[in-house]
Amino acid sequence: MNRTVLGRTGLEVSVAGLGAGGGSRLGRATGKSFDESVRLVHAAVDLGVNFIDTAPIYGTEPIIGAALAAIPRDRVVVSTKAWENWRSRDADARAIASLDRSLRDLKTDYIDVFHLHGVAPGDYVDAVKVLPALLREQEKGKIRWLGITEYPPGDHRHEMLRQGFEDDWFDVAMLAFSMLNQNARSRSFPGTRKYRIGTLIMFAVRNIFSFPGRLQAALGELADRGEVPDWLAAEKDPLGFLIHPEGAGDIIEAAYRFCRHEPGVDVTLFGTGDLDHLKRNIESLTRPPLPDADRRRLVELFGALEGVGLEHGMAKT
Ligand SMILES: NC(=O)c1ccc[n+]([C@@H]2O[C@H](COP(=O)([O-])OP(=O)(O)OC[C@H]3O[C@@H](n4cnc5c(N)ncnc54)[C@H](OP(=O)(O)O)[C@@H]3O)[C@@H](O)[C@H]2O)c1
Repeated sequence: MNRTVLGRTGLEVSVAGLGAGGGSRLGRATGKSFDESVRLVHAAVDLGVNFIDTAPIYGTEPIIGAALAAIPRDRVVVSTKAWENWRSRDADARAIASLDRSLRDLKTDYIDVFHLHGVAPGDYVDAVKVLPALLREQEKGKIRWLGITEYPPGDHRHEMLRQGFEDDWFDVAMLAFSMLNQNARSRSFPGTRKYRIGTLIMFAVRNIFSFPGRLQAALGELADRGEVPDWLAAEKDPLGFLIHPEGAGDIIEAAYRFCRHEPGVDVTLFGTGDLDHLKRNIESLTRPPLPDADRRRLVELFGALEGVGLEHGMAKT
């Protein structure tokens, strides 16, 4: 497994990170048993993944807590979050209560990266008011590093993170980036790199590349608006040009490799409840960059798009 350093945290992390949310929630949303989900976490760690992302609202912290019982704690970097009404007067007390519940459910004494979860641009100013309280918890050793995650369905232009760069509160940021949603290249990565903020990628695949027909439907709408060429919408396999012996084996492999090798990206998260997908995704994320001509074509075709593929996660049940 390739490793990298997560920005100024200095944590050594795998370039592939297991996401316990999204449409699959480690299989909890797709009918897998608790024990099967625990085995999935163990399989990821056995294959070299040391970054695991979860959140109370995913309902997967107890799974990771059970999985951690068989793993030396310092072998994995655990990332979790608090999702609050940031405008409420007791948001700081609620965030601390959420942290304490996460510690209990994850059966650990400390969280490596603790994020404010899904902060919308209009909530940023209120959300950061909980930071003094969280910094006190950090001093007690309950949190190692502070992070923040975007709310992609309502923040297509990364406005929330852009407010955060100058404040420089956060050691880690989680943001949306994919083959059809590349505007973090100009709007976020210059800031994350300048402030050495560890950068986690979500929405690399999501629904658009994993549900049959979603990509074609999206390209049809974009062609109607003149945002992509008409021939793309007419193609049965519009991204077929990526699949060839020197390129990717399939679209999902291409999607993960595209993100993993983007300058500015530290960890590309993948969400799955399927052991075969898990193995394939780890393989994809450890392969070399896409051929330069394919990457350039993706940038030419889709580099100017905004807000594509950012829907809520759908479960394959
Ligand atoms: N605001 C936030 O903080 C926020 C928001 C969204 C996500 N996240 C984090 O980011 C992580 C990743 O996001 P995501 O869940 O959207 O993940 P993703 O990796 O972009 O997409 C996962 C979807 O693709 C499917 N899939 C994965 N590998 C596949 C393969 N090889 N072949 C076919 N289908 C495949 C999964 O279903 P299968 O189960 O069938 O594999 C799932 O439906 C989440 O788990 C979560 O930790 C955070």
